[in-house]
Amino acid sequence: MKIISDALELKTYLKTMSKRVGFVPTMGALHDGHLSLIKRAKEECAFVVVSIFVNPTQFLQGEDLESYPSRNDADLKICELSGVDVVFLPQAKDIYGEDELSIVAPNVRGFVLEGATRPGHFNGVLTVVNKLFNIVNPDFAYFGKKDAQQLNLISLMVKQLFMSVVIVPVDTVRESDGLAMSSRNIYLSKEERVKALKISTALYEATKMVGSGELDITVIKEKMLRILSPLEIGYVEILNRDFEYIREVQLSKSIILVEVLVGRTRLLDNLWI
Ligand code: PAJ
Repeated sequence: MKIISDALELKTYLKTMSKRVGFVPTMGALHDGHLSLIKRAKEECAFVVVSIFVNPTQFLQGEDLESYPSRNDADLKICELSGVDVVFLPQAKDIYGEDELSIVAPNVRGFVLEGATRPGHFNGVLTVVNKLFNIVNPDFAYFGKKDAQQLNLISLMVKQLFMSVVIVPVDTVRESDGLAMSSRNIYLSKEERVKALKISTALYEATKMVGSGELDITVIKEKMLRILSPLEIGYVEILNRDFEYIREVQLSKSIILVEVLVGRTRLLDNLWI
């Protein structure tokens, strides 16, 4: 496995690559969720690149950029054991210069939900993913459904900018008790970890309601809010898969999304229904 930190070196290295290149962008602190993306890439592509880069531009002032978990040695071992061909491990100075241009997320879809509570976050995500795509030039790129809005906006960017990469959505990997895996779960104390289970409980309760014929979003949201109480809610929404607001659940075309604050940790989860 090769480890490269210089963007132009990686670009040159991959330029003559005749194999199908699969790409998994990450911010490190790898867990089984990331691993499932890598496994899927390995199944579908002869050459797999993983990037590990805690992208400063997607963190807002006061967020956890400084304390974001970093475990490069363990991450590199995981990549090696998973058969990754190249890890791209840049520093911020390798990615960003002075007086940078930036990609701005779309006015509507980029500034609801996560974009409303973290304005500017998706500008940073789209900017870095755009740069990473230009460096790696992948055939396929793998993203988790766990970050549904991110996945939606990246797919939109690829379509609107006529990029040729194929975006592959990968199902959310959960702990055995239902908690969606996340690099931020390590911030949770024992008590908070128990409280966090309310999230998956609320999501599964909502799908049960839909399964028994309840399609009224107000009714479903009320039940979810009761289950999540007294956690601090960022949002609880049921939208269509284009992230537009709807009145009634549209079967196989909707997503239930939750953001809550457990202690000081923001947790996201969703189910596609
Ligand atoms: P990060 O949070 O490290 O996540 C990297 C990828 O792993 C994302 O596509 C995310 O959706 C996916 N992922 C995270 N938890 C998952 C889980 N439990 N099951 C399945 N997939 C999961 O998302 C980012 O990094 C950054 O925003 C990035 C796209 C790398 C740009 O900086």
